[in-house]
Amino acid sequence: VWANVELVFDRYKDKLATLTKAKGWLSKDAYMYQGFWHQPMGRFSVQTTMALQDTFKAHPTDIYLVTLPKSGTTWLKALMFALVNRNQYKNNNLSTHPLLVSNPHICIPYIEFEVYKTTPTYVDTHVPRLFATHIAYTSLPQSIIDSRCRLIYLCRNPKDVLVSWFHFVNKARDKSCDLTTLEETFELFSKGIMFSGPYWDHVKGYHKVSLNNPENVLFLTYEDLTRDTVNNVKRLAKFMDCPFTEEEEAKGVVQEIVQLCSFENLSKVNKHGNLSKRVPNESFFREGKVGGWVNHLTDEMSRILDEITEEKFYGLNISF
Ligand code: A3P
Repeated sequence: VWANVELVFDRYKDKLATLTKAKGWLSKDAYMYQGFWHQPMGRFSVQTTMALQDTFKAHPTDIYLVTLPKSGTTWLKALMFALVNRNQYKNNNLSTHPLLVSNPHICIPYIEFEVYKTTPTYVDTHVPRLFATHIAYTSLPQSIIDSRCRLIYLCRNPKDVLVSWFHFVNKARDKSCDLTTLEETFELFSKGIMFSGPYWDHVKGYHKVSLNNPENVLFLTYEDLTRDTVNNVKRLAKFMDCPFTEEEEAKGVVQEIVQLCSFENLSKVNKHGNLSKRVPNESFFREGKVGGWVNHLTDEMSRILDEITEEKFYGLNISF
């Protein structure tokens, strides 16, 4: 299904050469584009962002999940898919639910992959189209903004994102790259160098538009979703224009969906197999906890990250 990679990369060769470079994660180069760090290879590359800006066409009914990696994307993809398709897989049909056999990343694609698609997939024939992306607000394809699509932003405590990112990078790395250390990942992260980072700027961009435009942008945190999953799933359903009916609530449909998308269930389904050549399904399910960073970061690392977060989020009502 994937093609056009060389074509796209060739098209943006000259533009790439003008960007600021730094040493990135896993000893690769990172490129700064429109204020955010990208890698210069693969489907999530800076070239992909440029190509999306030039070619991607949004539909007004589309719904986009936006996250920084390791913020709970997989969980929210599962919830969004389960909510929108709940009437298709209820009662006797529940055992055929895609989430009982597939990785949530199969159920909701990233727009980053659309650039390389040569044949239509199921997403093209469904309304609403559900997509995810890691692209910063300022770099979103203009068509998404102009179409006034709904965006759901999920953010997570930076310390848990950092620890989760560190484990993921080592697990899903190209085996020709050396393992990275937590110290090194911390150094880069605190300088803003992370996939689609700086973390703080990414969060702030979407937080701002969620305040200015709450009908179109829903801002959620992994922590709130963990603490009160049921009420946040109801909120999500309402925002996505598929609110639960009283009858559904009485029948326990909300709890059913929460259960289907739980860490326990999804990690069991995804114990084996690979999402792609380098990425095992199980790498998206490590602990699924709030505050697990305390077992990994030193006091000094924690203090530095708190200071940066306090300064960057000063005056904003973002808490974890
Ligand atoms: P940890 O590494 O802290 O365990 P992403 O999906 O954005 O890549 O984020 C992955 C993180 O979300 C991992 O965090 C993973 O364990 C957690 N996660 C995945 N599925 C989850 C679920 N159903 N419920 C809660 N957390 C989940």
